[in-house]
Amino acid sequence: MRFKKPLDLLLREAAESGEGTLRRTLSSFNLVTMGIGAIIGAGLFSLTGLAAANNAGPAVTISFVIGAIGCAFAGLCYAEFASMIPIAGSAYTYSYATMGEFMAWIIGWDLVLEYALGAATVSISWSQYLVKFLHLYGITIPPEFTMSPWETVTLADGNIVHGYFNLPAVFIIVCLSLLLIRGSKESAFVNNLLVVLKVAVVLVFIGVGWSYINPANHVPYIPENTGEFGHFGWSGVLRGAGVVFFAFIGFDAVSTAAQEAKDPKRGMPIGIIGSLLACTVLYVLFSHVMTGLANYTEFKDSAAPVAVAIAKTPYAWLQKAIIVAILAGYTSVILVMLMGQSRIFYTMSKDGLIPKVFSNVHRKFQTPYKSNLFFAGFVSLFAAFVPVHVVGEMVSIGTLFAFVLVCVGVMVMRKSDPNTPRPFRTPWVPFVPIAGILICILMMVSLPLDTWLRLAIWMILGLIIYFVYGKKHSLIRHGVVNLPKDPPNPQYTE
Ligand code: ALA
Repeated sequence: MRFKKPLDLLLREAAESGEGTLRRTLSSFNLVTMGIGAIIGAGLFSLTGLAAANNAGPAVTISFVIGAIGCAFAGLCYAEFASMIPIAGSAYTYSYATMGEFMAWIIGWDLVLEYALGAATVSISWSQYLVKFLHLYGITIPPEFTMSPWETVTLADGNIVHGYFNLPAVFIIVCLSLLLIRGSKESAFVNNLLVVLKVAVVLVFIGVGWSYINPANHVPYIPENTGEFGHFGWSGVLRGAGVVFFAFIGFDAVSTAAQEAKDPKRGMPIGIIGSLLACTVLYVLFSHVMTGLANYTEFKDSAAPVAVAIAKTPYAWLQKAIIVAILAGYTSVILVMLMGQSRIFYTMSKDGLIPKVFSNVHRKFQTPYKSNLFFAGFVSLFAAFVPVHVVGEMVSIGTLFAFVLVCVGVMVMRKSDPNTPRPFRTPWVPFVPIAGILICILMMVSLPLDTWLRLAIWMILGLIIYFVYGKKHSLIRHGVVNLPKDPPNPQYTE
């Protein structure tokens, strides 16, 4: 038998307020900035150069458009769910209502890959840029403390140094976790500042760089394929889309804050689609300018392609400001990812699938502080000891899997609950969800085999925990939760 969480119950939970619950403080504007906060980051500032140099050339702009179309299909499905079930937990919650507890567990467990490991990935890139920035001022952090033990660096004197752990990455994770404990409103305020700074620099880069574009750099726009799939030509543009997909991850983070939105039915679609649209426009313009300033071949092996491009203008002094803005940009991505993660575990814990400690809300700050502390430790472990490409690919596969399940969920829900009010309806169902599923599966297939193996190991671990703990403690399964129309059950609502 499948145990589903009744929709009425979900909506009643969403309407709950008071002590022991999350506070509704986020406006639609906050939600769009939260989305942009989660979206613009390592994908734009690091991967654009790599995708241009290795796969697509100047046509990386087209890769961005393809990536955006895939995300838009999934985003439209997210928006229907998020406006219909405006409660913390995102895709986990939607699956619980549509496909039952087991699928909900799978997706909740899978989302750890997107959010917790997403935060870890970006914190590692953050650390690389910090090292670069401090270097400009003559400060050097010993390289052993800026890499995982699996990485090495060759010094100028020829000595090879092995990493111990990535200290700056751990530092930023711990600081931001403490900020999150302080409160969502405070975090949203800091996030707004960071987003303004980050978008300002993207706009300055586009505005300043536009007049220095060398049209010769854009010819040919799609370099000829080298004979190998994914190396230029149209197959390169497609592979490029798979690479820059990482740059779009995060728009769905908006849906994890549904329970803290002032007007979730309006705010959720605006937050999700609005931030996705805004970022796509910025990405296309940004990458057009970047590949126009420098030839795409110059971005090969560059950890800071933006600096390479800006050096082609008379404004090379902007480099320092740009690195600061990139650091700020990464900071907001990490903040939203950490927040999304704690909110998903909050909801899973409220349902009894994981221990209650994850839904303990701080009396004063009204944030799930124990969950924040736990993930400060968990994410730090990955940030400190795992190379960036390993965590990065796990983030992509986990996110794509979540997108597939959300697209499936929309179709299931249209059949099972056709009459439930949908403040936002995904257009052209089933075309949009099916197209979303196909594009996401295509991108998953393009990921390497070892990433699939890691996904399998993570999922098996999740299944063990579910059967040993989650299934036994599930409140819905054991009827602890009162069905709709009954008076609220104090055991469940606290
Ligand atoms: N989209 C986020 C980034 O590019 C994860 O950093």
